[in-house]
Formats: sequence, C-alpha cells, structure tokens
Amino acid sequence: MRLVVKSGNSLQGTIGVNSTFRLPGDKSISHRAALLSAMARGDSIIEHFLVSGVTTPLLEALRMLNVDWKLEGSTLIVHGRGLEDWQSPQEPVYCGNSATTLRLLAGALAASGKAAVLDGSSGLRRRPMGRIVEPLKQMGVDVEASAGNTAPLQFSGRSSGQHLKPIHYTLPVASAQVKSCLLLAALAADGPTVLSEPGPSRDHTERMLNDMGVRIGFPNGSSIQKQVGNQSSPSEYTVQITPPNPLVLKPLRLTVPGDLSSAAFLIVAGIITPGSEIMIKDVGLNPGRTGLLDALRQMGAEIEIGALSEHGGEPVGDLTIRSSLLKAIEVSGPLVVRMIDEFPAFAIAAAFAEGVTRVCDAQELRTKESDRISDLCQELHVIGVQADEMPDGFTIRGGDIPEGGIVNPHSDHRLALSLAVAGLATRQGVEVADAEIMDESFPGFIEILQQLGGDLRAIQEMPGKNNEHRAIFPGIDRTPAGAQPFPSTAPDRITRFMSGR
Ligand code: S3P
Repeated sequence: MRLVVKSGNSLQGTIGVNSTFRLPGDKSISHRAALLSAMARGDSIIEHFLVSGVTTPLLEALRMLNVDWKLEGSTLIVHGRGLEDWQSPQEPVYCGNSATTLRLLAGALAASGKAAVLDGSSGLRRRPMGRIVEPLKQMGVDVEASAGNTAPLQFSGRSSGQHLKPIHYTLPVASAQVKSCLLLAALAADGPTVLSEPGPSRDHTERMLNDMGVRIGFPNGSSIQKQVGNQSSPSEYTVQITPPNPLVLKPLRLTVPGDLSSAAFLIVAGIITPGSEIMIKDVGLNPGRTGLLDALRQMGAEIEIGALSEHGGEPVGDLTIRSSLLKAIEVSGPLVVRMIDEFPAFAIAAAFAEGVTRVCDAQELRTKESDRISDLCQELHVIGVQADEMPDGFTIRGGDIPEGGIVNPHSDHRLALSLAVAGLATRQGVEVADAEIMDESFPGFIEILQQLGGDLRAIQEMPGKNNEHRAIFPGIDRTPAGAQPFPSTAPDRITRFMSGR
C-alpha cells in the first residue's frame, strides 16, 4: 500500500481510549501484560490490549508454550497456570519484527527452564542479542546466540527445581528490554538480583511485577514513581528484585493506557499543522516515556497535560496540543533514553523548528527496526530537509517548509508514521511506500488522522498500473536504489516551482 498525505486542512478533534477512534493500547504495557499473565496463576483480564503486528507473535508464542488465552475484541483473557505448566515448543518460536517480544520472552523462558529456539524476521535477526545472552549466561542459563550474537537464540532448558543464580549486573546501555529480560529471569533465582542502568529506561515491568506481588526495591531509596525522571547520576537507576518463594504471581486486571509512542505522531501532526487543536485522552505518561513532551515544550510547543490519574500502577492523562512555532534545541543524556522511540517523530518537529536541532548520545537509534540515524536522515533529505548524520545522532536544519516527495520507510513502522505526518505540512505532500508497516504498532492511524481532518489517501498496489501515482507526483519515479529528491531540494527550484515559473 502507498499512502499519500497532503497539506491543507487544520486538525481538530478528540481521540482516546473510549472514543470512537481509539488510540491503540500501549505496546510495551501490552507485551508485559500478556507475558506476565502467562506466568501468573489464575485468569488475567487485559482491556484495550494492542492487537497488532508486534503483539500477535507474542500471543502465538504463548500458545506454543502451552498457555491458554482468548481475545474478545481488544480484551485479552489469559488463563495462567504458572510457569511450571509451560511446555517446550516443537518448532522455533517466531517473534516477527519485535525485539520486545524476543527479549522479554527470553527472560520468561529462562525462568521457566524450558528448552526453545527464539527466532524472528530478517530485520530482527540483525538486532543485537549479546546484551541479553551475556548476563543470562552469568545467571546460569544455557543459551546460545547465532553468529554475531544475534537471533535465533537456542535455550537448552534445565531440570525442574534447579534455580538460577542471582546477579549484580550493570547494563552497558540503558535498555528496558534488557532490564525486563533479566528481571523476568531473576524470578527463578535463589536470591535477590540487582540491576543498574546508565540511564532512566521505562519501568513498566517493575510496576507490573510489584502489582503481582513481587518485591521490587530501589537500593538508592527512591520509589517506583521516582525511579525514572530527571536524575543524572547513573547510580540512581538501580533496581532490586526478590523472587517470591514459591514463585507464584497474582493474575492481572487492567486497562492498557493509550500508547504515548503512537500519540507522538498525532502530537507532532497537531503542532506542525497550522490552526490545529487536538485532544488525546487516556495516554500513558510513564516518566520513562515522556521525554518527547519535555523536548517539544522546550522548543515552544503548546502541550497541556490534564486529568492526571493512575491506572494499573501507571500514570495516565489527557493531552491538549495546539499548533505552535518551534525553535531548535539540543537533546542529549538521560532525555535521549526517555524519548528513545520518539526520534522519528521528533525529527519531523525539528524540521519545522527555527534553527539547527542537534541530537547526541543516541547511538542506540542505529539498533532499532531500522538504522534510525542514517535511514531517517536519508528520507528527510528526500523530502527536502537538511539532516546530517553523526555517529551518535544527527542535526536537522529547520524552518523552511519542506517540499515533500516519495519516501521509503525501510521496513520501520515509526519511520513510515513520522514521514506520513511530515506530509501534512509540506508544500506538495508525502507519499509513503510500503505503508502497511504502520500497522505494526499503530493500526487505525490513517482513519484517526482523517477523522481529525487530515488529507490522507491509501492506494493499494496494482501491478502494472501506476497512472494514479503519476497524477499525484508528476514525472517523479523514485528509484529503488534510494534517495531521489522531489522534485529538487534546491531553494531556487522550489521558489520557481511555487511561483509557477
Ligand atoms: C521497549 C524498550 C525500548 C523501545 C522499544 C520497547 C520496551 O527498547 O525502543 O520499542 O517495551 O521495553 P530498548 O530497551 O532496547 O531501548
């Protein structure tokens, strides 16, 4: 599918978990809720579960491990019977494109002691797994990675009743996936495990385990709510888990909040589209996730946060966003971790901000669904934005209205979503190729933006017919080899184009 997004209309309206057009449930919380319920004893009921390309492999994996569940609309009911009831799957478990599925499942599998192979798409096979394999081995898990410390991962299992070793481990990079993997494995250890991180990653796993009766502590004396925030000392991000004995987790009952990482695209859309005012209700506001809001406000964005409450141990609130004039900022340090998934959306805001925005300390972006430094800069160039790559980040010169063009999302849902949003405020619009990838995390994105007033059109590919394609972007044919500016990023060409000369 190709998605064509044009500028013109302002965005107005409200969306939320209970609206007709529903912001999808949080991806990270949905993953954890399904997996932890499968480890619990009893029936868990999870409302507003994210049913999408990134969570369905996890549900299928759970079935392969002998966990019973059913989906009623977006309500997931998991009939947990404890880890001792898990069975080794006969086939390799396919985790699709989702590193969250693979890394969290690896921790749970390690705790279960069952043998299994965890694998995924060619994209997932490129992503680093040494970061979980190494500490899991220190805990006594019999696990082998494939060449280059990548998936597939082979778990050999261990005899029942045999515990894992508790560890004190410092993660080389701040990563909620690695931390969560180790927290889940640590449930099967015969003593408390202590994990330290060099940055404030999201703490959904800690919050959920806490609710399920597991003792989670912070050796530095902070609480779950304060654990992630603006502290700068690495020693602040230390968590201790004491496994319950016997290992019994209470079932869950929760409504998954709206996904702030999906809302990010609507937030940026509202800010860059002149005359817009939108409200996004019931959004998860875990302090380890709200870095984008801080960064955008620092740039001058009008974002109000209201109706703050707590659901299932997570902070939730309503956001009101108005279109705003932005100025460039610098993003580095702990803020990077708190907005790690939001750089594609943030880059679009930066393209509309006056001045040069600089992002440093963000080399982790190269290990995501695509290389979110190089691929993002490449596609920004295509639509006429000056974006320059650095080893650990990028700079974006903003302020001029970008021309638009035909972009390649590099099989990355967040690149596709952010480039589509850019189309709302470019001169000629943006066409996103292979746009179905957006459904991985944000099913319903097109309908929601249309509902808010955006001019979006999805075109299903029909082999041999691209007349409509030419009608939208006359004379433009982006070669598969890569970046073709549309029609040129040179300012004089753009001026002539606009004035009709
Ligand atoms: C996630 C953690 C982040 C994030 C990913 C989801 C999670 O990854 O990028 O989309 O649910 O724990 P890292 O932990 O690798 O930074």
